[in-house]
Amino acid sequence: HGTSRINDAGHLEIGGCDVTELKADYGTPLYIMDEQLVRHRCREYVDAFTASGLGFQVAYASKAFSVMAMCRLADEEGLSLDVVSDGELYTALQAGFPVERIHFHGNNKTPDEIEMAIDAGIGCFVVDNLVELSLLQAIAAQKGATVNILLRVTPGVEAHTHEYISTGQTDSKFGFDIGNGSAYEAVKQAAAQSNLTLLGVHSHIGSQIFETEGFQLAVERVAGFARSVKEGLAVDFRVVNLGGGFGIRYIEGDTPLQVSEYVAAITGAVKTYFAGISSSLPEIWVEPGRSIVGDAGTTLYTVGTHKNIPGVRKYVAVDGGMTDNPRPALYESKYEAILANRANDAATEKVSIAGKCCESGDMLIWDLDLPEAESGDLLAVACTGAYNYSMASNYNRIRRPAVVFVQNGRSDLVVRRESHSDIIANDIVPERIAKQAI
Ligand code: LLP
Repeated sequence: HGTSRINDAGHLEIGGCDVTELKADYGTPLYIMDEQLVRHRCREYVDAFTASGLGFQVAYASKAFSVMAMCRLADEEGLSLDVVSDGELYTALQAGFPVERIHFHGNNKTPDEIEMAIDAGIGCFVVDNLVELSLLQAIAAQKGATVNILLRVTPGVEAHTHEYISTGQTDSKFGFDIGNGSAYEAVKQAAAQSNLTLLGVHSHIGSQIFETEGFQLAVERVAGFARSVKEGLAVDFRVVNLGGGFGIRYIEGDTPLQVSEYVAAITGAVKTYFAGISSSLPEIWVEPGRSIVGDAGTTLYTVGTHKNIPGVRKYVAVDGGMTDNPRPALYESKYEAILANRANDAATEKVSIAGKCCESGDMLIWDLDLPEAESGDLLAVACTGAYNYSMASNYNRIRRPAVVFVQNGRSDLVVRRESHSDIIANDIVPERIAKQAI
């Protein structure tokens, strides 16, 4: 469903835009987002939930890629939005995202963040712990506000994924454990708060998950919990939020399901396990991030130097690296790439793609089959739409790249490239030191 193809000139084209022209217009490194593919993914979720017949909200997890244009697009597609900080909230509000469809996450929301969200009229807080519960009640009471909450629970399900990004197991910094009674106690306390409306519970079992079993097991455990609070505390969950985590294909061998298959699996499990607990089935909310934007993103780099170590390895360096994509260094994530200005040329050698940071760990791809790359060639790395721009840094004071949306032969800048003055915008040289320098 993506709009990428190789055109007659042998150049990669995305959304009808030739990447050599995008380089001429915007420079490199450049994040290119296939707008049609993002919209398609949003619609896959909405259509699959509509087909299930259950009430639902699809909240785009903006941590994957939070910029104002993306918030607008998510709103246009009828999604809700998950934010985890005042910065993501501010981005959404400035983009005019309807605040009643914004959900505020995080295990350590500050009093300032809570105030900002209540003042804005936030749709819902996902409460992580008892300290937050009492802080939220106190701030809401002081403002005379009533706020909707979900309680984040850990159902004790460990998804098969990289251990750094598993969050559903018992030993987790997030949420109330269902298994040891702390979630039950939290429901009891939350239901007693006069300024909080307890809508239900939230569970997120991990990220980049390929199987449905983990989600189905989480639904079963959450339903068992719902039954126990219904019986013991007479509390009904009107909403069950199952988080994000649906995987995508980064490289050959990755075998994610279709969005519709994930949705059918979880809605089916809800119908099975929640039957008869309350008079009606709960609304199902989900929070996909990666699967909305991941495969729609491509990063375009210009090849610079190379270093051949005969019999060992050839390093080919590009003009970005861990500053625009920290995932290989952080998680050993794998990516595929092509020479985008000579996309029909046959691969003739195995090379490893290095970034330009002053650090040996700054490698983007190991052992990639490529035609012999010359300085000035363009390298396109696929599937960089999620957790790339949003995790980019200014390490080595490298400027963060621009982001463009492409569709129907048109490109629109949605984030401009940082300037040298952006790099020092927050620097202050105290006068005492400035004087010494003279
Ligand atoms: N909801 C909650 C509560 C989450 O913690 C996350 C991701 C999501 C939704 C969205 O999950 P997704 O659909 O994107 O898998 N930086 C890592 C990923 C960290 C994910 C953290 N939480 C990476 O680059 O792979």
